[in-house]
Amino acid sequence: MKVGIVGVTGYTGLELLRILSNHPHVEVTYLSSKSFVGKSLKDVYPFELDETVLQDIEVERFEDCDVLFTALPAGVSYELVKDLKNTKVIDLGADFRFDDPSLYEKHYGKKLSNYETCERAYGLTELNREKIKNAKFVGNPGCYPTAVLLATAPLAKNDALGTSEIFVDAKSGVSGAGRKQDESYTFCELNENLKPYNLVDHRHVPEMEEKLEALFKKKINVVFAPHLIPMNRGILCTIYLKTSLSIEEIHRMYREFYQDEFFVHVLPIGTYPTTKWCLGTNHVFISLTKDERTDTLIVMSALDNLMKGASGQAVQNMNVMFCFEEQTALKFKAVYP
Ligand SMILES: NC(=O)c1ccc[n+]([C@@H]2O[C@H](COP(=O)([O-])OP(=O)(O)OC[C@H]3O[C@@H](n4cnc5c(N)ncnc54)[C@H](OP(=O)(O)O)[C@@H]3O)[C@@H](O)[C@H]2O)c1
Repeated sequence: MKVGIVGVTGYTGLELLRILSNHPHVEVTYLSSKSFVGKSLKDVYPFELDETVLQDIEVERFEDCDVLFTALPAGVSYELVKDLKNTKVIDLGADFRFDDPSLYEKHYGKKLSNYETCERAYGLTELNREKIKNAKFVGNPGCYPTAVLLATAPLAKNDALGTSEIFVDAKSGVSGAGRKQDESYTFCELNENLKPYNLVDHRHVPEMEEKLEALFKKKINVVFAPHLIPMNRGILCTIYLKTSLSIEEIHRMYREFYQDEFFVHVLPIGTYPTTKWCLGTNHVFISLTKDERTDTLIVMSALDNLMKGASGQAVQNMNVMFCFEEQTALKFKAVYP
């Protein structure tokens, strides 16, 4: 199968290439860049052994691919790919994530033409497999929404959330911001530093709330406090919510919900996840703790933002769409320590 990566020079693009180089059923035939057209990938990243010359973004060439990964800033992909006839698209940005186009418009400041008629599926594999299977366009989820939705979905199925609010304290490695050059991402700004940012109005909030509403069949408000931590990869979300169920009941419910999932692991009560367990892998670790005194459930989820939070999940979705075994090319174990 022929695969293209538009935006291969970014962090998620490179990660896609790393994963796909292990995939027995695909050949990467098209790699594009904006800033390095005409150079080989090896010229830009000497550790890459790939001599393939980076192409300009040419929509005509997209149709040569069976599937195209678009790893571009939000607002760029949609117009490039929306009219493709035969090529399936997995977009790692936000352009295909929303059901409600007005949410995209409000939070990404752009109106997408004919969005209503564009047949798309939200690419959170474990929660939306059936739709992903037949989709032409998959909107791969944001990294934080992946962590939060997987950490709360079992409660939805069992209608076990006591309130309509969840509180999320989130920490992310710096690669979550991409490779962009910006003063606030320089070494001295981030090293030995813990940095809150975009509290409450982070762009991932409307995405989480839209998907939580669909899961819980009621409006759920997300109070969101993200932080950058001085490491390259990894996300740890700590979620506080109310439920009247006992920790044993909740734990059983989560274990049942994810019992057939290869990538989602519900830890024993009293074991807490760390980001290092997921480093370079597509696995997600979830822990459950209940503060009985305040009737508060604390759910933690850890993942690698470039893997299950982006490129790993994108390949998982490709496997679903093309009927390959879902774990194909994704059986990486953590790089540890
Ligand atoms: N980083 C993460 O952990 C993560 C997780 C989930 C989702 N995402 C989403 O995935 C997408 C890619 O993220 P990233 O972290 O890989 O970003 P990145 O490292 O900044 O890379 C961006 C890529 O897009 C290309 N590009 C930039 N502006 C462009 C334009 N106007 N037209 C065409 N190409 C353009 C760049 O090309 P050149 O290098 O050639 O300039 C580069 O290949 C974003 O939408 C991001 O929100 C990222």
